[in-house]
Amino acid sequence: MNQPLMAGIPAVNAPAYVKHQKLINWVAEIAALTKPARIYWCDGSQEEYDRLCAEMVAAGTMKKLNDAKRPNSYLACSDPSDVARVEDRTFICSQNKEDAGPTNNWTDPAEMRQTLNGLFDGCMAGRTLYVVPFSMGPLGSPIAHIGVELSDSPYVAVNMRIMTRMGKAVYDVLGSDGEFVPCVHTVGAPLAAGQKDVAWPCNATKYIVHYPETREIWSYGSGYGGNALLGKKCFALRIASTMGRAQGWLAEHMLILGVESPEGKKHYVAAAFPSACGKTNFAMLIPPKAFGGWKVTTIGDDIAWIKPGADGRLYAINPEAGYFGVAPGTNEKSNYNCMASVAANTIFTNVALTDDGDVWWEGMTKEAPAHLIDWQGKDWTPEIGKETGRKAAHPNARFTVAATQNPVIDPAWDDPAGVPISAFIFGGRRSTTVPLVTEARNWVEGVYMAATMGSETTAAAVGQQGVVRRDPFAMLPFAGYNMSEYFQHWLDIGKKIAASPAELPKIYCVNWFRTDADGKFVWPGFGDNMRVLKWMLDRIEDPQGVKTGGVEHLFGVTPRFDDLQWEGLDFSAEQFATITSIDKAAWVKELELHAELFDKLKHKLPAELQGVKDKLEKKLAA
Ligand code: GTP
Ligand code: SPV
Ligand code: MN
Repeated sequence: MNQPLMAGIPAVNAPAYVKHQKLINWVAEIAALTKPARIYWCDGSQEEYDRLCAEMVAAGTMKKLNDAKRPNSYLACSDPSDVARVEDRTFICSQNKEDAGPTNNWTDPAEMRQTLNGLFDGCMAGRTLYVVPFSMGPLGSPIAHIGVELSDSPYVAVNMRIMTRMGKAVYDVLGSDGEFVPCVHTVGAPLAAGQKDVAWPCNATKYIVHYPETREIWSYGSGYGGNALLGKKCFALRIASTMGRAQGWLAEHMLILGVESPEGKKHYVAAAFPSACGKTNFAMLIPPKAFGGWKVTTIGDDIAWIKPGADGRLYAINPEAGYFGVAPGTNEKSNYNCMASVAANTIFTNVALTDDGDVWWEGMTKEAPAHLIDWQGKDWTPEIGKETGRKAAHPNARFTVAATQNPVIDPAWDDPAGVPISAFIFGGRRSTTVPLVTEARNWVEGVYMAATMGSETTAAAVGQQGVVRRDPFAMLPFAGYNMSEYFQHWLDIGKKIAASPAELPKIYCVNWFRTDADGKFVWPGFGDNMRVLKWMLDRIEDPQGVKTGGVEHLFGVTPRFDDLQWEGLDFSAEQFATITSIDKAAWVKELELHAELFDKLKHKLPAELQGVKDKLEKKLAA
């Protein structure tokens, strides 16, 4: 395999403030395997961030943007082969295949360790091994968990500083024997002596590997997003979901928002939409003008850790400290708060560069600038774009920004106690079939809706786009264990709440993405999603539907046209009908897809869910 290119292995040289011998030994062990040229312990300081960014600018990995336009911000452009999560290269290596379940790639852990030991041998030659200590959740809080990522990518180190609580203070929490999740990451591109580096090193071979029983993560070959920032999907979802199952809590692919009425009544809701299906936008939405006095605030935009509190209610925290959000489609109109968040101190990845040193992406302005350098470093004009179909920004181009830059960050966003959840929302991207909003009649039917959710695939993962696939709970790529057991865990949590004095959160299913005959979205979405959110809150406040009603349909309750507040939006009852209608033939087909999913998951599939399906089928046949 990779030959050790440097004779010696660098001294570990742990700073005096690191008192954890096991951690130091582990760093030494990984260094002996990966053979980096040097080891650098990140302290998380601003000085360090600035220095690493400057080094990456010098190396050609990043460009510094025009300070007058976009202060303290950078653009990184990746290798065209390394632009998104790689689901087919993501593995859950539990001892038993059955524990990973039929939706995950599985390899025997011993076999995988052997493969990775070969690949990692000398993989960091000529590079720096960065030791990146981080906390998911507020530092030192009882619900937080610590990880340490060893990575040969300075891009990872600076992004982790934004996305997590990263730095020296983590070692105070760890002390001499605290627990941490070891995360090993390499771009898989060793440098021979004197070999010139490329701007974005990576390897055609990729492995994103999780050992759930021993809580370890190993990532090889990619420098991008969830493949490389291991605190995010790998730790906070795949590993954390297995921890949550063992310990009675939930790790979910959910945004968390606060919504306050003009009377000052506040609720928190958590919403699971698959990747690139609207979480960041929903989490920061600005209510329409006609909703004067309504306020939406953000707790988190991608991941929620949810634990039962002493009062029986579910409390959610955002384990992250930043947003790694989709750039294309974001503009002042669709998401003003997001644009304000990325006005400074932001790392952009795979967007286009303007001639005056700022950034641009499809959908940022109505008209594209006359000339750009696209994400692949090529000249781009609107004409070239039209002729070739080439996008200026990659469809999965992203920004990395600290949560504290969000103008509508919720005051409780880093409260270790979390916020109580009044409702769960599940939503896919469906051009047909699924209505705008449905309220589940009870917890089990809500779990069924979430479990059978379908969504069109997006650019957030490598692979075919726009094909409908089942994405249970928006967790298909992120569940660290058997999906059927995951459903059971949700049912069990529901039973636990039902047995407590607390009210069960309501469960809703939404779809912002129904299209018309021309393929255009019918629903205006974004801020106007407030209209749907308000209906949900009305229902929560008035569960009997005295003031705010709805009608029962095939699988739940849906609002009538007059149940939504329409002031300030020109949207007709006919249009409303086209996005709320239930097409029987389409639902017969949809249920066939549910059946296919349940067949795949039949081992350990909760009987209650099969029961809901049987009832639905009967209703449909009637
Ligand atoms: P991940 O970070 O991949 O998990 O994505 P996300 O779920 O946070 O999705 P995000 O909010 O970034 O939205 C993804 C894309 O969908 C962007 O191009 C948005 O402009 C678009 N989008 C978001 N909300 C809406 C909506 O309500 N209607 C429509 N039509 N598009 C939306
Ligand atoms: C997603 O794909 O759901 C993301 C982006 O949030 S990544 O961090 O790359 O997973
Ligand atoms: Mn996501």
